[in-house]
Amino acid sequence: MTMWGWVALAVFIVFIIILYLLSPLISPPPLKLRDAHVLVTGGSSGIGKALAIQAVKQGARVTLVARNEKKLEEAKQEVTTYVTSQDKTQRVHTVSVDLSSDYPSVEKAFQEAEKTLGAVDFLINCAGTSVAGRFEDLSISDFKKMIDINYMSAVHATRAIVPAMKARGQGRIVFVSSQAGQIGLFGFTAYSASKFALRGLAEALQMEVKPYNIYLTLAFPPDTDTSGYREEQKTKPLETKLISETSGLLTAENVATVILSDTVVGKFFSSISLDGIMLSNLTCGFSPVTSLMEATQQVVTMGLFRIISLFYLAHFERIIYRCKLQRDSEAGSKKQS
Ligand SMILES: NC(=O)c1ccc[n+]([C@@H]2O[C@H](COP(=O)([O-])OP(=O)(O)OC[C@H]3O[C@@H](n4cnc5c(N)ncnc54)[C@H](OP(=O)(O)O)[C@@H]3O)[C@@H](O)[C@H]2O)c1
Repeated sequence: MTMWGWVALAVFIVFIIILYLLSPLISPPPLKLRDAHVLVTGGSSGIGKALAIQAVKQGARVTLVARNEKKLEEAKQEVTTYVTSQDKTQRVHTVSVDLSSDYPSVEKAFQEAEKTLGAVDFLINCAGTSVAGRFEDLSISDFKKMIDINYMSAVHATRAIVPAMKARGQGRIVFVSSQAGQIGLFGFTAYSASKFALRGLAEALQMEVKPYNIYLTLAFPPDTDTSGYREEQKTKPLETKLISETSGLLTAENVATVILSDTVVGKFFSSISLDGIMLSNLTCGFSPVTSLMEATQQVVTMGLFRIISLFYLAHFERIIYRCKLQRDSEAGSKKQS
């Protein structure tokens, strides 16, 4: 390398170090989990239960919210085994409510949770479900169900908690979206739309609550091995299965660890795996900035990631085309026989 090459490299390294050092200036102050009240919707199963376990391991009091009381009780027994504190203040509480139904029931249920374990410091909106199928094979009620459970549940829960967080000038709110909330995928016309909606909600709300020291995290997990995922597999079109397989299958524990650590530091996007990081950089748009390092990385890598995404898109289109050919030939041979 020439002398000018070395100088350029040195300038680049100094620039990165300065950015790294300045980054915390615009980052939210971390919020501790120890002694905090963490309310997890969808806390009786899968990613929500794994989040509750991680929070309890770090000293939090936890409320699990879901509908099925038996599942909630079983989850409470399991989560309680991870309680770390010797005194009796670290507890696990359960609330059974249908978050997608009416707002007053959710508000009442959450007031009861706050009476039991104190004001909510971390609200984790994880309750959700999915339905997969080609657009014309899904019923109109499937579309409504996705919006009610994946979007309105989060609206109800967040509406019930935000006023008190604003009054206390502190809090964290998590929306568990999905990689299908970053890109629209074959078979997910109903699901993707409901998860995209969470992004609009999160970006707009973050602007409103930042002056009150409340920070939002929007999480985009890839396929995760949970009972919800196994249920979804039963109706997934072949195309959706083949496309989803490109980002692998994670454990709920892995996903929960990343979401929780990003939430503590107030990161707006929480992404897992290389694919996830690429997607978040590529789709960052006008999203809030919580770290100078992250913003720089987005500016520098966006063009490159767009090029990579074109290869992914071509690969997905090939999958869809091949599946169509296979279906057409199966339909042809059925007609002949
Ligand atoms: N697993 C994945 O591959 C994956 C990937 C990306 C994103 N996600 C998202 O991550 C979240 C959790 O997924 P998961 O796979 O862990 O799901 P899961 O194992 O099926 O758990 C879903 C949880 O939500 C609760 N719930 C569902 N509808 C509810 C309602 N109307 N009111 C209150 N609670 C309700 C369920 O309990 P009850 O049924 O008893 O109410 C359960 O506790 C979902 O939002 C999902 O979309 C999952």
